Amino acid sequence: MCGIVGYCGPRVISDILIEGLRRLEYRGYDSAGISITDGDEFTTVKKKGKIKDLASAVPQEIDGLAGIGHTRWATHGEVTDTNAHPHTDNSGKVVIVHNGIIENYEALKSRLKQNGHRFMTQTDSEVIAHLIAELYAGDLEKALLEVLPLLKGTYGLAVMHQDEPGKIVGVRNGSPLVLGVGEDEMFLASDVTAILQYTRDAIYLNDGDLVSVTKDGYKTFDVHHNEVSKNIEQINWEINQIEKDGFPHFMEKEIFEQVESIKRAFTGRLNRDSATGHLGGLDMEPRDLLTVQRVKIIAAGTSYYASIIGAYLIERIARIPAQAELSSEVRYKNPIVEPNTLYFAVSQSGETADTLYAMRELQRKGARVLGLCNVVGSTIARESDGGVYLHSGPEIAVASTKAFTSQLTIFYVFTLILARIRHMGVEDGLDFINALEKVPSQIGELLKKTEELKTLAKKYYTYENFLFLGRGLNYAVALEGALKLKEVSYIHAEGYSAAEIKHGPIALINESTPSLFIVPDDALREKVISNMKEVKARKGRLIAFAVEGDDEVANIADDVFFVPKSHELMYPFLMVLPAQVFAYYCAIELGRNVDQPRNLAKSVTVE
Ligand code: F6R
Repeated sequence: MCGIVGYCGPRVISDILIEGLRRLEYRGYDSAGISITDGDEFTTVKKKGKIKDLASAVPQEIDGLAGIGHTRWATHGEVTDTNAHPHTDNSGKVVIVHNGIIENYEALKSRLKQNGHRFMTQTDSEVIAHLIAELYAGDLEKALLEVLPLLKGTYGLAVMHQDEPGKIVGVRNGSPLVLGVGEDEMFLASDVTAILQYTRDAIYLNDGDLVSVTKDGYKTFDVHHNEVSKNIEQINWEINQIEKDGFPHFMEKEIFEQVESIKRAFTGRLNRDSATGHLGGLDMEPRDLLTVQRVKIIAAGTSYYASIIGAYLIERIARIPAQAELSSEVRYKNPIVEPNTLYFAVSQSGETADTLYAMRELQRKGARVLGLCNVVGSTIARESDGGVYLHSGPEIAVASTKAFTSQLTIFYVFTLILARIRHMGVEDGLDFINALEKVPSQIGELLKKTEELKTLAKKYYTYENFLFLGRGLNYAVALEGALKLKEVSYIHAEGYSAAEIKHGPIALINESTPSLFIVPDDALREKVISNMKEVKARKGRLIAFAVEGDDEVANIADDVFFVPKSHELMYPFLMVLPAQVFAYYCAIELGRNVDQPRNLAKSVTVE
């Protein structure tokens, strides 16, 4: 949620920190700050607002030996300059930046107050600086290791001490931290986007790892202060992937990238000769997959909606009972783990706390949990028992778009694999492959018609409430369409099964609540048309996403957007695309901050 960056080396430190924070801004964007040591003292600048506000508050280039920076998404304490990180102790000798939550901070704070500490902020994080100051006896690593057992909660931490200038110590427990290794410089960051332009050599820290860096090198330790060696891994993202590349917003860029990202998600994973798929990362042979009697999928937000479609598809096509559940609910319901159940933890970032903790709870109960993540080296990717990467490339816009369609793609490939080892024959397998391989070009066709969606948005952006309605495989597309609209435009929208409205939501229908119906030409089309008529009879305005040539739907709806005719299973891809674009243009019309909507953060690392 918050972002951390740290640097030791010869470059102008303020520039590196501010540029790193700019790259991390999507993780949290209500305030930011930096602290730089020149060997004698720290220069600290903290500012409420965006990174550009921080940059303008930095008087000139600040050079030095080492520095740390932070971009905040407030949890404890209002959004103010003072509550922004870095935080310090009363002597001013310790500075820290912290991601995560210290749950027992109130107790620690009152004990520290009794010992004479004065607190300057309302944050939970400040206690860490005071504790380090109290326990410091000339060795920052040692002091930090003594502090950690006192903390209850989660942290990614970067710490400096005035008596050890040029050194940054980092540690993680539940919040990501990566070390970037340069020639005569070292970087610390909460994700690789902050360091990508300087180095491709990264060490992903695990919970409990502590790292100590100076410009000349690094050392990694376990919690007992034993030195441990860690592998350097290569970051394979390109710098242009984290730039807007001519687009006004990352969201639009990422919507347009879906032609390629969907292709990347299935490339090398479909085999025409055997009419099936292959997901090497699952590490499961057909004979292992044959023993699977149930599939359960855990996820949050947009990833959850992709998972609902995945579960629906697995059950319908592979004929294996499958269910998607909110990870936040799974963790605390004392879930039953049955033998022969295969679990998936689905997460674009691979860091979502709800999903990570639910995954760990399931693993404790003996479950095999496969990860479906986009971010390489992320915690869920590393802690899962096998898994698949989406290969979508970095998703920077806070509202998820391309990750959703890549997650769908993996579920389609997985469904094919499961179905083919059971009842699906070669011909049907090939049909399925043909249909899936056509999706990117169909998405390309749709992207040529975004002007139509812009016009639609111009007509509807002033409405304050929307219903998104779909059924079957497209039920969760309705949920996702509603989520996209609320996230980026702040227009209230509810997603429902079209069949469900008569059980309550139809009471909301009037001339000022438009209903957006998703109407593919599948077995449920007639029923959805009946639901449209029910809304029309109550004077509700109707928008339909329908299939090219569907005059009946066009005649009922006030406005229609057509998608190309497709294999009936592929409509979730084609129907979600216009929903994403419609939300985008509504947000533009309303002058919203599309890439960084209010109150949100890209990677939700707190519960
Ligand atoms: C919606 C969105 C969020 C995320 C959710 C899970 O546009 O971005 O709802 O989908 O926070 O995030 P991941 O997939 O990283 O676990």
